[in-house]
Amino acid sequence: MAYSDFSRAIKIAPSILSADFANFGAEIRAIEAQGADWVHVDVMDGHFVPNLTFGPPAVKAFRPHVETVMDVHLMIQPVDPYIDAFAEAGADILTAHVEAGPHIHRTLQAIRAAGMKAGVALNPGTPAEAVAHLLDLTDLVCVMTVNPGFGGQKFIDMTAKVRALRTMIGDRPVHIEIDGGVTPETAPLVAGAGADVLVAGSAVFKGGSVADPAPYGANIAAIRAAAGAAA
Ligand code: DX5
Ligand code: ZN
Repeated sequence: MAYSDFSRAIKIAPSILSADFANFGAEIRAIEAQGADWVHVDVMDGHFVPNLTFGPPAVKAFRPHVETVMDVHLMIQPVDPYIDAFAEAGADILTAHVEAGPHIHRTLQAIRAAGMKAGVALNPGTPAEAVAHLLDLTDLVCVMTVNPGFGGQKFIDMTAKVRALRTMIGDRPVHIEIDGGVTPETAPLVAGAGADVLVAGSAVFKGGSVADPAPYGANIAAIRAAAGAAA
């Protein structure tokens, strides 16, 4: 499968930033077998954010292991020179930060022109209004609930921003994704405000491994149940 029809049902997108970096293929297969809806891939450049992860060749190597949706979150600056490489690598959704350059409108057009779904991410300090003129060009708005760069940080409450976005989006087919500090405790806050995609790294991978993946499933189910009760 790749990305199929739009739905506002809750989707859990484990971030492989919290996976075993020596074993990405098996980790991706394990989280999907344990109920992940999407696979979230965090690309960091050591410039836009103070950490480095991986680039297009690594993302291309992940692709054959992903049977759901490969959701690639770019925390890089600039974005435009790399769009074709991430399309080539097989990203289904490519998300760029509104703070990463002066021409996010052009960037979103280029992502769609390259055949991918286009996402736009907002840092905690950036208001919902920053995407007001982008909503017909985007398939997903990612609300960061931590300052990007690292997994395992404390959730920053962006409930009011999510609610404002949900109203602005109306009946457009645009997902609201939450990224950072999502746990069974924080998921209901954002799901209740209108988010439908929940990224979770540490809260999915904790307690499990490729050899013992059942905790991944229990963690995914706990986040889904908590969010579903509030959605
Ligand atoms: C943060 C990344 C997140 C991160 C989430 O910069 O964009 O996707 O991995 O990790 P947790 O769920 O541990 O906060
Ligand atoms: Zn992310």
